[in-house]
Amino acid sequence: EETKSWKKTINIAVSGAAGMISNHLLFKLASGEVFGADQPIALKLLGSERSFEALEGVAMELEDSLFPLLREVKIGINPYEVFQDADWALLIGAKPRGPGMERAGLLDINGQIFAEQGKALNAVASPNVKVIVVGNPCNTNALICLKNAPKIPAKNFHALTRLDENRAKCQLALKAGVFYDKVSNMTIWGNHSTTQVPDFLNARINGSTVKEVIKDQKWLEAEFTEKVQQRGGLLIKKWGRSSAASTAVSIADAIKSLVTPTPEGDWFSTGVYTTGNPYGIAEDLVFSMPCRSNGDGDYELVKDIIFDDYLQKRITKTEAELLAEKRCVAHLTGEGVAFCD
Ligand code: LMR
Repeated sequence: EETKSWKKTINIAVSGAAGMISNHLLFKLASGEVFGADQPIALKLLGSERSFEALEGVAMELEDSLFPLLREVKIGINPYEVFQDADWALLIGAKPRGPGMERAGLLDINGQIFAEQGKALNAVASPNVKVIVVGNPCNTNALICLKNAPKIPAKNFHALTRLDENRAKCQLALKAGVFYDKVSNMTIWGNHSTTQVPDFLNARINGSTVKEVIKDQKWLEAEFTEKVQQRGGLLIKKWGRSSAASTAVSIADAIKSLVTPTPEGDWFSTGVYTTGNPYGIAEDLVFSMPCRSNGDGDYELVKDIIFDDYLQKRITKTEAELLAEKRCVAHLTGEGVAFCD
């Protein structure tokens, strides 16, 4: 009889594990659809004191599902225990925004959490842990986190902008009357906020430039861009809470993009550390940019990107917003006194 050889179990730490996003994500992770059908996993779930019973409930449901790849489920409220030997850390737990708020309005409340979790990762996680920050404002939270984890390479930290990429692909596909898988090379530049830049200059539909397929420049500049920028806010208005299922899907997509080789000629968007970027974007920020991966968990920035005036102006605006957010959390990154404008 053939004996199946299993890969070494990987440890996946998830914060906010009793929340809505995690409730969708954890079962995808356990099913094998993210890391692969031959990759056993251990889930280390971080919750809060307040949510501890809910966390116990989540663990019970995971256990009762008898996932063959799920080798261990551990729960806790201390990041120094839960993040022990983590190979991946999916940092979801944070206060979400409510109707009418900007994501930056959460800087004060959530920044502290990510400083603490950065310290904990630095102390106990695998030295090559890959970190995906989902809690908002995710770019600046990721910057805070990496500044508090000097032992972990800065390039291992990501802010989730894959949801924006997916939203942008969907809108272009609907407008062009094609299935979404015909839309490729979709970059989201900058902040996961209303200044984000969905790049229709470099994106492609069926291999052609977007402008060749959608000849309505006004729609692209105004309606399309705004729709993508405002999508999260509109969803909060409709649902009364922020997106959960589609966010979980996009976290799964973001991980898959790092653990499988990027298809020839294509790329994906993720918020990563800007130092050494070839686009002239300010250094020392976490900024969404186009990336490719050979599937080993790492990535490189895409070089052959074109810019025009419109795109450059928009990028400068989202860059300015991130620089302002950074000044406002200087006390959490070890860079002096905070100044919020
Ligand atoms: C989203 O984009 O749906 C999430 O980041 C939640 C939010 O605040 O918009």
